[in-house]
Amino acid sequence: MLRCTFLIIFSLTAKIKAEEPGVYFKIEENSFLSDENTIWNGKVDSLMSCSQICARRAACKSANFMAKQGTCSLLSAGQTEQAEKLLKWEGSFYLEKVGSPGDSSSQGTTQSTAVPSCQTLCSQSPLPSSGVYWIDPDGGSQANAFKAYCDMQTEGGGWTLVWSYTFTNYKNFTAKSNAITPRPNWQVNSNVNVPISTAPPLNETDYNAMNFSQWKQLGRQVLIKSNINNWLVCHPGTGSLVDWQEGDVSCQIVTHVTDTCKDRSAPSIFSPNKGFGPMFYTSGYSNSTYYYFDGYTGNNWPTHDPCGENQGNHLKNVVSPHGNIFIRA
Ligand SMILES: *[C@@H]1O[C@H](CO)[C@@H](O)[C@H](O)[C@H]1NC(C)=O
Ligand SMILES: *[C@@H]1O[C@H](CO)[C@@H](O)[C@H](O)[C@H]1NC(C)=O
Ligand SMILES: *[C@@H]1O[C@H](CO)[C@@H](O)[C@H](O)[C@H]1NC(C)=O
Ligand SMILES: *[C@@H]1O[C@H](CO)[C@@H](O)[C@H](O)[C@H]1NC(C)=O
Repeated sequence: MLRCTFLIIFSLTAKIKAEEPGVYFKIEENSFLSDENTIWNGKVDSLMSCSQICARRAACKSANFMAKQGTCSLLSAGQTEQAEKLLKWEGSFYLEKVGSPGDSSSQGTTQSTAVPSCQTLCSQSPLPSSGVYWIDPDGGSQANAFKAYCDMQTEGGGWTLVWSYTFTNYKNFTAKSNAITPRPNWQVNSNVNVPISTAPPLNETDYNAMNFSQWKQLGRQVLIKSNINNWLVCHPGTGSLVDWQEGDVSCQIVTHVTDTCKDRSAPSIFSPNKGFGPMFYTSGYSNSTYYYFDGYTGNNWPTHDPCGENQGNHLKNVVSPHGNIFIRA
């Protein structure tokens, strides 16, 4: 699955190279630079993660990765400045940034430099900040390019915002009159009565939705964020939201917004329209719902339940309660 990362080919001769234009690293195995210029230190799961963290920080010139300890330290200086300081240590790796070929820094800032999706911005170094960029998901002429919001921070970034919604009756969440609003132009039960939007949302509280038929042009991985329920990243399986296909999905909770039911696992099934909008749930049906995008103000309510019990366990008393869906390939 393609993510917002630098595709790296790793060989035993200890060289790391970005496949796409971006950041390149020269690697010395069993070596590290004495670290008086450390700007950050932390646990990582792989050499690749360490290189990615360094790649995204302009101030990072080189890094040490200690395989046994799983630690990564970012350094503000490179070996070239302090040749004598490279030390030998088994299981250590010294990574030195060797530049970012090609200047792509203006990509997505104007209609004529529109990118296919926010994910394309991932090849820039340093990683651009979250914000509004021009995108042209269908390729070809840029005449139909448009502005969209990119999340370049969450879970590696490269996410295109396709929907920002709020609720019709947050205060009485489990009332039948509560629903998400507005809704994308997806195919649902004809009772669904909240307004339809086809205008791409320009931030997380700009309540709008991108034309649903364009979502699949951006990818199939889904990030669901909300300030009243936990954040999920869902990879498609037999089920897929953008394909409007019922079935298994592989979801992970990436941020706990609430401590309620912190031990519960993420939902595992996507269904387009068992009721008045799509839902993510576990198994069984009505009592295992985690997210339900109910768009009917006459019945049901839009479950945002961190316990996955289809109950009102969402975070209460939140100012400007809302949710967002982002897509990435
Ligand atoms: C909340 O919704 C319930 C169920 O629809 C209703 O009985 C109750 O009166 C509502 N409460 C308020 C404060 O609106
Ligand atoms: C979000 O976008 C809307 C519409 O463009 C704008 O009115 C609002 O100020 C923006 N809010 C934030 C927090 O940027
Ligand atoms: C949505 O996109 C489809 C396919 O590009 C297009 O045919 C349709 O007219 C669009 N709908 C709206 C409301 O823009
Ligand atoms: C859902 O939970 C309620 C109350 O906990 C229970 O009465 C009901 O039978 C459950 N429904 C299903 C379909 O499991």
